[in-house]
Amino acid sequence: MSNGKRVLILGGDGFCGWPTSLHLSQQGYEVTIVDNMVRRKTDIELGCQSLTPIATIDERLRVWKELTGKKIGFINLNVAEDYHELLTVIKEIQPHEIVHFAEQRAAPYSMKSPRHKRYTVDNNINGTHNILCAIVESGLDIHLVHLGTMGVYGYGTAGMVIPEGYLPVKVDAGGKEVDLEIMYPANPGSIYHMTKTLDALLFYYYNKNDELRITDLHQGIVWGMATPETMMHPALVNRFDYESDYGTVLNRFLIQAAVGHPLTIYGNGGQTRAFIHIRDTVRCIQIAIENPAPKGQRVKIFNQATETHRVSKLAEIVSQITGAELRYYSNPRNEALDNELVIHNEQFLQLGLNPTTLSEGLLEDVVEIAANYKDRINMGIIPPVSRWREDIRLDPAGSDVPVTDNRIH
Ligand SMILES: NC(=O)c1ccc[n+]([C@@H]2O[C@H](COP(=O)([O-])OP(=O)(O)OC[C@H]3O[C@@H](n4cnc5c(N)ncnc54)[C@H](O)[C@@H]3O)[C@@H](O)[C@H]2O)c1
Repeated sequence: MSNGKRVLILGGDGFCGWPTSLHLSQQGYEVTIVDNMVRRKTDIELGCQSLTPIATIDERLRVWKELTGKKIGFINLNVAEDYHELLTVIKEIQPHEIVHFAEQRAAPYSMKSPRHKRYTVDNNINGTHNILCAIVESGLDIHLVHLGTMGVYGYGTAGMVIPEGYLPVKVDAGGKEVDLEIMYPANPGSIYHMTKTLDALLFYYYNKNDELRITDLHQGIVWGMATPETMMHPALVNRFDYESDYGTVLNRFLIQAAVGHPLTIYGNGGQTRAFIHIRDTVRCIQIAIENPAPKGQRVKIFNQATETHRVSKLAEIVSQITGAELRYYSNPRNEALDNELVIHNEQFLQLGLNPTTLSEGLLEDVVEIAANYKDRINMGIIPPVSRWREDIRLDPAGSDVPVTDNRIH
């Protein structure tokens, strides 16, 4: 049964967008996906493919309709380039909600070359600005939910707990101490992360000037790949990236363990990151669209992550479960060897999220699924190939001891 709410999912063919589209459709939302299929084309550029065989978008939607009776619409357009088509879609569909996943989302891909840097900025910034501009031009009261990243905070935290977007500060105003709440200082660690911090300024401006209702979700690294809906039929299976540009750390470790590749730890594995399971991603999006900021209130920011882990610890856990070998690679990123990360995420918990945290069972499930598809794996594209600077060493072979110096001397 439809709940009468129309949702546009921009980037709805991707890793997070596809399971979200199915989940919201299952919950009674009238879903239309907008995607230009660039992610599938990037696979060709990188000489890789999703570990899981993914059906065409037409086949995905046909099977979903056949199984559930629910129709999901699809429109192929580029939100960063096709402004008038986007505006027409918004005016015709009149969505209550727009969920924006449609960005180039891999930090290593954004650092590959000047072309990749420029593409990431053009695609992400123009896309986000076109969406905001089109919402205003449509004259409709649409709530925008954007997928941002925990990486906007940077990974040097002065020993404090990272708040949800806004930082209370005291400033000296001519000898008088004044309390303020400011946006947490942006500290991007890659061109990709920089586009997310620029997105945040665009949101700030359009919220202030045009009173747009906006929620920015600072999401952690997503792991796992299956949700109840994607498991309903082979044609609904989600994509699963394992190569070194788009594959994310925990999912990569699980696949490496499944195919007998050593776990690729960068540096000494001292990086601490925030994580969320894909099942919680789709629930968080539903919670976010059901709890929009009222008109006239500032941009709502949630930390969409359920736990933090040090990479070396994650590798040990995966190794204990699977027997995988640990291997250390010169870190292709320009970042501190070690960092701490403690985050606030109370807003989603208060709104009813029951987090799916790391458990042996769930980790084993992913390894098992990965093992089923291991014939599709190209081992040659597992080691890192993109680096943050020319003087950073790329290290396809790795070593059996931690690597603490990543520079070319
Ligand atoms: N995957 C993660 O671990 C993770 C973590 C934090 C945040 N996020 C954020 O979530 C969002 C979705 O990530 P994902 O993992 O699903 O990425 P993805 O690359 O799998 O999906 C993005 C989708 O957007 C589409 N797209 C990109 N540019 C477009 C454009 N200009 N016009 C139309 N469609 C376009 C792509 O074709 C793709 O289907 C991103 O914004 C990302 O920054 C993801």
